[in-house]
Amino acid sequence: MKTLIVYSSKYGCTEQCAVLLKERLEREATLCNAAEASSVALDEFDSVVIASPIYMGKILPPISRFWQRHRDQLLQKRLAVFICCGFIERAEEQMEAALPRELLAHAQFKENLGYAFDFEQMNFFDKLIVRLVRGAKTSQNHIHQDKIAHLAALINKEW
Ligand SMILES: Cc1cc2nc3c(=O)[nH]c(=O)nc-3n(C[C@H](O)[C@H](O)[C@H](O)COP(=O)(O)O)c2cc1C
Repeated sequence: MKTLIVYSSKYGCTEQCAVLLKERLEREATLCNAAEASSVALDEFDSVVIASPIYMGKILPPISRFWQRHRDQLLQKRLAVFICCGFIERAEEQMEAALPRELLAHAQFKENLGYAFDFEQMNFFDKLIVRLVRGAKTSQNHIHQDKIAHLAALINKEW
């Protein structure tokens, strides 16, 4: 059986984490952008990793829709969930508030895998918000490779 990694990403950090995770997996895995997930045959997968960044305290809509559409089926599978979020000191609290309670209760892994601010790609308003709220003026990338390795080890050894 296979693992599905379904993600949503506005500026690429969450996608990068999903790609890095897939590279570490020793079992067959499929990467899927949640916006294009309608054609995915969930039956083929015994485990699913769900990944979203946090924007204004919320996960991205394609991940919410994916969960709403497939909730019953997903609750029958092994699940992991990760977020990417800039307020690392509030990661846990934000995860609890933004993700469905049933998903969190069922998931064997739930973590913040880091964050990035990509000033080359961000639109004007997003740059302004990051400058005002975080005081960041240049691009940053703080992906936790160790946490990605931890999730990969869980999937490789236990799933
Ligand atoms: C407009 C904007 C709003 C954000 N809101 C939050 C937030 O509410 N909480 C948080 O922890 N991080 C917040 N962030 C930081 C993002 O979660 C972080 O940059 C993440 O790595 C983005 O992932 P992505 O590149 O996959 O879209 C925000 C970033 C931007 C640009």
